Amino acid sequence: MHQQEKNRPKACVVIPTYNEEDNIEKTLLQVLEVKKTIKPYNLLILVVDDNSPDDTQTIIKKLMELSDDIHMITGAKIGLGDAYTRGFSYALEKWNPSLIIQMDADGQHDPSVIKKFITLAINGKELIIGSRFIEGSSTPNFSNWRRFISLFGNFLVRYLGGVYMIKDCTSGFRCINTDLLKKCNLDYFSTKGYSFQSSLVCELMRNGANAVEIPIVFNKREHGLSKLTLHDQIEFLINIVKIRFRNSEDFLRYCAVGILGVFVNFLTYFSLTRFAGWTPELSSPIAIELSIISNFICHNFWTFIKRMNGVSYFDRFIRFHIVAGVSGVINYLFFLFLINALFLSDLLSLFLGIGIATIFNYAGNSLWTFRRQEMGKKH
Ligand code: GDD
Ligand code: MN
Repeated sequence: MHQQEKNRPKACVVIPTYNEEDNIEKTLLQVLEVKKTIKPYNLLILVVDDNSPDDTQTIIKKLMELSDDIHMITGAKIGLGDAYTRGFSYALEKWNPSLIIQMDADGQHDPSVIKKFITLAINGKELIIGSRFIEGSSTPNFSNWRRFISLFGNFLVRYLGGVYMIKDCTSGFRCINTDLLKKCNLDYFSTKGYSFQSSLVCELMRNGANAVEIPIVFNKREHGLSKLTLHDQIEFLINIVKIRFRNSEDFLRYCAVGILGVFVNFLTYFSLTRFAGWTPELSSPIAIELSIISNFICHNFWTFIKRMNGVSYFDRFIRFHIVAGVSGVINYLFFLFLINALFLSDLLSLFLGIGIATIFNYAGNSLWTFRRQEMGKKH
């Protein structure tokens, strides 16, 4: 039996821990229970503890004496993403498992879901996400604020990171096929914290993951506090911009055209007021409109040349204007928010406003005006 067990493909549950002395024992024992019910795979557990100052490691070591299936690596605390990166490389190198499962140690993830993960993996799914935001799932005890942060974060990743089909991009409970994982360039991630989770989803999807989400109940944390920090949340926002760049050279072209548009706007305004002697009130809207037209032409025949989606030029032209208007308003409101609520300097706020508006502007035009032709549909 033992020999047979060794020959089965492996699935490695990677559990990061930091100060989980009150939770880790129960979690590990539960995973060991689940292991007994999973026949096709040999389930291993790798805990990545970042030198927790509490008794987490002592408890893990005690359990390691009881079971050969529990392993631990330790390191300096840099962040959740860093812990996962180390855990993944260690597991791949040491056991070459077919599946890697990510899971929290604090009792918020019900280990019995692992069984469902395995069944779906056997049916060919390469990325299975325990999702908090699809029908059938729930997040009892999530504060309104935390729910808002999570949903807003997910909204950004989904629509700017190009993974709009995934509803929970930041979930920490997932099962990943390692053939797919090996295709991903984990070194590229400069994210050391929680935003690792969304980077990983985007990277797996970019590599063509056959993905599915299943509903989970994201329980109340049993003991202790969440380790999610403000720093993690800021890193998350910066990271989305990075993913955006990596995901599409279209976006770089888009920005280049945008800069050209600024010049068109400026030159027109300058010529009309300085040479033709027109008033600023008349010259400005003409300059704006001309830059919108020139941007539209460039996007049509350069940035999105491959996206002939069957929408007429005229309709695109209208949509382009609507998106420009909406992002103009977003730009302005964000600017007001930064100077009045966060008391940033006006120039920095202007710059950040343009940045946010550009991203929304891109998303609007990319997903609507110049949306890709849907698969299988011909116009
Ligand atoms: N090794 C290590 N190093 N482990 C860490 C670190 C770290 O720097 N930071 C957190 N952990 C461990 C915790 O001990 C816990 O087992 C797990 O990672 C998740 O941390 P929590 O602090 O419980 O996170 P959360 O409940 O606020 O966040 C959950 O939702 C996020 C998205 O909303 C988690 O599931 C995250 O993975 C998820 O991204
Ligand atoms: Mn937690």
